[in-house]
Amino acid sequence: MKRLLITLGVALLSLSTTAIAQDAKPIYLDPNAPIEERIEDALARMTLREKIAIIHAQSKFSSPGVPRLGISELWCTDGPHGIRPEVLWDEWEQARWTNDSCIAYPALTCLAATWNRDCAELYGASIGEEARYREKDVLLGPGVNIYRSPLCGRNFEYMGEDPYLAAEMVVPYVKGVQRQGVAACVKHYALNNEELHRHTVDVDLSDRTLYEIYLPAFKAAVIKGQAWSIMGSYNKYRGSYACHNDRLLNKILKGEWQFDGVVISDWGGTHSTEEAIKNGLDLEFGSWTDGLREGASNAYDLYYMAQPYLELIEQGKVGTEELDDKVRRVLRLTFRTAMNNNKPYGAMCSEAHSEAARRIAEEGIVLLKNENNNLPIATDAKRILVVGENAIKMMTVGGGSSSLKVKYECSPLDGIRRQYEGRAEVVYARGYVGDVTGDYNGVVTGQNLNDDRSAEELIAEAVAMAKDADHVIFIGGLNKSEQQDCEGADRLGIELSYGQDNVIEALAEATDNLTVAFVSGNAVAMPWIDKVESVVQVWYLGSESGNALANILSGEVNPSGKLPFTFGRRLSDYQSHANGATFPNPGKVYYTDDIFVGYRGFEKFKIKPLFAFGHGLSYTTFEYSDLRLLTLNPEIDEATGTINQQVTLTVKNSGNRLGKEVVQLYISDCKASVVRPVKELKGFEKVELNPGESKDITFTISTEDLSFYDETIGDWKAERGKFEVLVGASSADIRLRAKFELK
Ligand code: BGC
Repeated sequence: MKRLLITLGVALLSLSTTAIAQDAKPIYLDPNAPIEERIEDALARMTLREKIAIIHAQSKFSSPGVPRLGISELWCTDGPHGIRPEVLWDEWEQARWTNDSCIAYPALTCLAATWNRDCAELYGASIGEEARYREKDVLLGPGVNIYRSPLCGRNFEYMGEDPYLAAEMVVPYVKGVQRQGVAACVKHYALNNEELHRHTVDVDLSDRTLYEIYLPAFKAAVIKGQAWSIMGSYNKYRGSYACHNDRLLNKILKGEWQFDGVVISDWGGTHSTEEAIKNGLDLEFGSWTDGLREGASNAYDLYYMAQPYLELIEQGKVGTEELDDKVRRVLRLTFRTAMNNNKPYGAMCSEAHSEAARRIAEEGIVLLKNENNNLPIATDAKRILVVGENAIKMMTVGGGSSSLKVKYECSPLDGIRRQYEGRAEVVYARGYVGDVTGDYNGVVTGQNLNDDRSAEELIAEAVAMAKDADHVIFIGGLNKSEQQDCEGADRLGIELSYGQDNVIEALAEATDNLTVAFVSGNAVAMPWIDKVESVVQVWYLGSESGNALANILSGEVNPSGKLPFTFGRRLSDYQSHANGATFPNPGKVYYTDDIFVGYRGFEKFKIKPLFAFGHGLSYTTFEYSDLRLLTLNPEIDEATGTINQQVTLTVKNSGNRLGKEVVQLYISDCKASVVRPVKELKGFEKVELNPGESKDITFTISTEDLSFYDETIGDWKAERGKFEVLVGASSADIRLRAKFELK
């Protein structure tokens, strides 16, 4: 009996320890354990094959995780402007789900044009919520490649020509997204400044230009935004592909910036197993664009970082040190996103998202010209004529990987009609025929834009209607079709296509109340500029396009956007096209424009732009006064490397409407040992003021703001001597200036 009891007791004891053992979570599954411990624990449990599997795709947009260990898959989605529709497992084609329509947010050129960091945070948080709701872990965006040429097909996806502006705007976007437990994947790192030959172009440039112009936005996203992933670009830099480029990835990104996230290849951007292993790529996507169907069977196993990598290890040709580093990074990303138990649930197409899209759109629209207060449209206008294809064409379908399937898109014409319902008659004339297609990867607009009338007939109709209209609004520009702001193809010229200049000229003759509005993400030439009363830069605004534009045209909202890039009069105004420079380039290209990109080039070579960087008008006016410097002789504190300088000024709304002004601070180095730009943007603040109201604005100047990248020491340097601060409403409209001397 006693023996039986003992046996029973032992059995019970061992049962309960088994239960305890089963209950105890391994560290890698414990959400409360420190993330680095979880990573090491998971890594120690993974087989070699599992490690290889986790560093490349298993479908068009996902990587497999470790099913045996319950480590989640990672799901990526485009893109920077809205959540891409679900696609088939191995294809770009949409999967025809019925619950994957999104809100389209304004394209990133518009976000940059808001010059409002809160808008960037709101944007990131809103799109991040949609990504989260759709169970995505990595958002493939934002894009911060610098606007080097107005011909680059993807400029509309980026944040303009100035590294400081792009850097300031990308940080809150990244933070907003990642608060949702979704990683931002900042793209395309780096030097992806043209589209047509993006897979072959081999960029070289001075180190100074690399550091001063092309890297700051990526650096800010990594260091200040703490981005969890970054996308290597297609192009080469100094002979080796950016997706496995030792200097860009190992030395700069992971070395100098201490990036602890994942380098994801652009889709099909990987070209060599050996280079991918050694040169910093962590996660390979898109190498076989048609995956299982057109590739050999099990094409994913043939990825550069799949079977070929495994074979090199098994043959003893490479070790596992690099592999473990890549796996650690992918696990870190997984624990930050897919396996983050504390992330919010997200939301899709909410009212708040529509409002966010509209607010960003309204703040980004730029009023470029407004003679005789032609805008806002007079309140007694009884008949408003809208002319042009972009007033009716859906703009969310097309353009490349940022193409969307939207819940709704309010066209400019619909928005204007809604705005004036019961107040004025809104009539429409086509004006010109541009691109009548409306299909991208199986998403169709359903619009029939065909019109067989000749250009003359269309112009004649518009002109006749303009004669009895109180206000005429021409809405044209580009349209995201091939060579008209589109991935994979660059524009052929800076001029407008489809005979739009002729329509505008004819309308300018017929009316004295002409507004020309451009839906585009690039600068266009305006040979008729002196003949029209108003010009508005509208961008691609997404779902709320029409509502936002109508609010600006009617005056319900006061415009406050400012240009994030310079509008030249002709292509050769841009240094990327000056002095015989070719664009786009199939092979080697040296950036001879150097640091003189955008306004830096216009100012240095005294070229008068059509519209300057930072330009944008309001329906009210602002006065700048009382510039005060904290000190005339700031000093560098050797211990901290900082300087004690502040600039304060007063800005007043001197008109009679509520308005927002973007106060811009530029710095000029009066004398330097190297050639420096005439001035550079180093601060901005957007401030809202009631009529008559004034506010003080203070900028703190850092050593960085005074520095240039000194190639002789491979570091930033602020030289002692005189500097000038210039404060104004645009780069060409400086209202206040003062000098100080750095001791
Ligand atoms: C584009 C990326 C995009 C990826 C996935 C590539 O062709 O360059 O920007 O995120 O495709 O769609």
